[in-house]
Amino acid sequence: MLPKPETLLGGLSAREFLRDFWQQKPLLVRQAWPGFQPLLDPETLAGLALEPEVESRLIRETADGWQLQHGPIAETTFQQLPESHWTLLVQDMDKLLPELQTVLDAFRFLPDWRLDDLMVSYAATGGSVGAHVDQYDVFLLQASGTRRWDIDRRPGAPLPERDDVPLRQLRQFEASDSWVLKPGDMLYLPPGVPHLGVALDPCMTFSIGFRAPTDEELLAELLQTLLESGDQPTFFTDPGRAPCKHPAVLDNGSLRRARELIRLRLARLDDRHLDRIFARTVTQGKPGFEDRAPDSSLSMDQLRQQLTAGCELSAHPALRVALLDDLPAGWCFIEGEEYRLDTERHAMLRTLTARRTVNGEDLLPWIDQPDCMTLLLELINQGHWELVGDEHE
Ligand code: SIN
Ligand code: CO
Repeated sequence: MLPKPETLLGGLSAREFLRDFWQQKPLLVRQAWPGFQPLLDPETLAGLALEPEVESRLIRETADGWQLQHGPIAETTFQQLPESHWTLLVQDMDKLLPELQTVLDAFRFLPDWRLDDLMVSYAATGGSVGAHVDQYDVFLLQASGTRRWDIDRRPGAPLPERDDVPLRQLRQFEASDSWVLKPGDMLYLPPGVPHLGVALDPCMTFSIGFRAPTDEELLAELLQTLLESGDQPTFFTDPGRAPCKHPAVLDNGSLRRARELIRLRLARLDDRHLDRIFARTVTQGKPGFEDRAPDSSLSMDQLRQQLTAGCELSAHPALRVALLDDLPAGWCFIEGEEYRLDTERHAMLRTLTARRTVNGEDLLPWIDQPDCMTLLLELINQGHWELVGDEHE
């Protein structure tokens, strides 16, 4: 059962948490998720780490120093692990075991596009990844066992990293705060706070990780969009130029005109263009999860029949979708692809994306609108949504 937002955030409302803590300062919440059940055991996690397409890491602290091994991890490696001082971490568990998506549902006071993944770690006693800093916001939910978290919340904490270990670890770390977390306890960390988590007994930690695009990613997308726009390029021109003084030197007139050429092209991008570039960037599919077309495709008749029969529609666990309103119409961005939507299709997509799973019944208002049904059928046949309780197969 999902905890109430006030329980999850230690008595704060989502609004208060976002105002006072999000991106600003750590928050420890005792019993954020009372009675939390991890929904998976360490064997399942290890089984996933055997798979080559799964992003996993095994980190060991030995007498010879730190060791990092990227997945796939061999079964024999697991059999030879010592009693203590190792951690297995697996990314994207929300996509690999979709039942874990319910954990993410508790964090839906933040927008979907901001969410990255659920990483699950299992550590033997003493296991740790060392003191480090992350660039992203993270909620560290203790799923089972006990872990001590040390953090350094002091402004100006030293951030230089070691260059003698295969991991990103801080050269120096001193804790300003230290807590022992038991199952259901949670620690929120904004980006840039040095932290160290050490398993006090065999334990599992769920990291609900967020993401934020960089200016470089946005600019790369902008350039890609410009190149694909089909617009005629504007050439540099220099009528009335003066004879050059030195043939190899870039003269001031040329430099000024080149700057103008770049600035004029950027000035032609209005706010909506930039908004769409942002939307395309943040909905780019997560590498490794692009392949999702179903084995068989659905016909329009089958779709209508299923919707009327009360089936459910479930978003693919790796789906990245965002809506951009231009009321009453808008755009929908799916895996970086842009769909211009008229009023009806926009209204349908708002309903479809309000939750991870929606009732077919909720889409009945559009069942007689051919454009809406064509789009819905396309999205299902591309594997972005799936009919649950689908009997056509
Ligand atoms: C862990 O789960 O052991 C590490 C999580 C983190 O510090 O980011
Ligand atoms: Co971390």
